[in-house]
Amino acid sequence: MRILETVASVRDALSGQPRAVFVPTMGGLHEGHLALVRRARALGGPVVVSVFVNRLQFGAGDDFVRYPRDVQQDCALLAREGCDYVFAPSEAELYPTPQVYRVVPPAPLAGVLEGAFRPGFFEGVCTVVLKLLAIVGPRYALFGKKDYQQLLVVQSMVQQFALPVEIMAVETVRDVHGLALSSRNAYLSPAQRAEAVLLHQVLLAATERVAAGAPIAHIEADAVNALLAAQWAPDYVGVRSRHLSDYVPGQPGVVLGAASLGQTRLIDNIEF
Ligand code: PAJ
Repeated sequence: MRILETVASVRDALSGQPRAVFVPTMGGLHEGHLALVRRARALGGPVVVSVFVNRLQFGAGDDFVRYPRDVQQDCALLAREGCDYVFAPSEAELYPTPQVYRVVPPAPLAGVLEGAFRPGFFEGVCTVVLKLLAIVGPRYALFGKKDYQQLLVVQSMVQQFALPVEIMAVETVRDVHGLALSSRNAYLSPAQRAEAVLLHQVLLAATERVAAGAPIAHIEADAVNALLAAQWAPDYVGVRSRHLSDYVPGQPGVVLGAASLGQTRLIDNIEF
């Protein structure tokens, strides 16, 4: 496995090879990320994983500074998974001049749910993903359903710009209790970690009530109240169509939620 730090070295390493399979990450790697890498390996072609904590997608009060960073540990995990190249650029390498050109995703998709609570988040994600895709030029890029809205936004960007890459979605990896794995779980105390599964349980209960035909507004409000009652600070719980438009009874849907437990903001979703 080779660790590459410059754009030029990535282009150089990949030239003359079959097109790569790409997994963008912000590091702090866990089994969820590694599931993407395993799936990438099965697709054939050199596997490239990027590790870059993208300042553009963090808001002023967000956890950019304390976000887990351990490139050595990440590389050790990736080497074991048979990753071929790690692209771990510095900020100066990826943003040598202020990134004034930005990808602004459409508000109906990117201004709701996560986008409503994290202004500029999807703009930051789209901008870095477009740039990384331009650097790596992969045939496939893999994204987790854990970040369901991010997956949809990236898919729609790729479609609108006719980017020559196929986006592949990978199921959410959870711990035995149902907690979705996340780099941010590292912030949780042992006691909080035990409590953290509540978000998943609340979303699961919501899907059961959708199946039972309860009114969507009640389901959403009750879910938020269940989190409040347990001393969480919920941002939203939303029952939506798979495309994030209003839910149509009887159709496939997804319930998405975001809430803070102490200082740690967690998100999750369940398709139904
Ligand atoms: P990050 O949070 O590191 O996640 C990288 C990829 O791993 C994303 O596609 C995410 O959905 C996936 N992932 C994270 N936890 C997962 C889990 N428990 N199960 C399955 N997949 C999981 O998402 C980002 O980084 C950034 O926004 C990025 C796309 C890299 C742009 O900066």
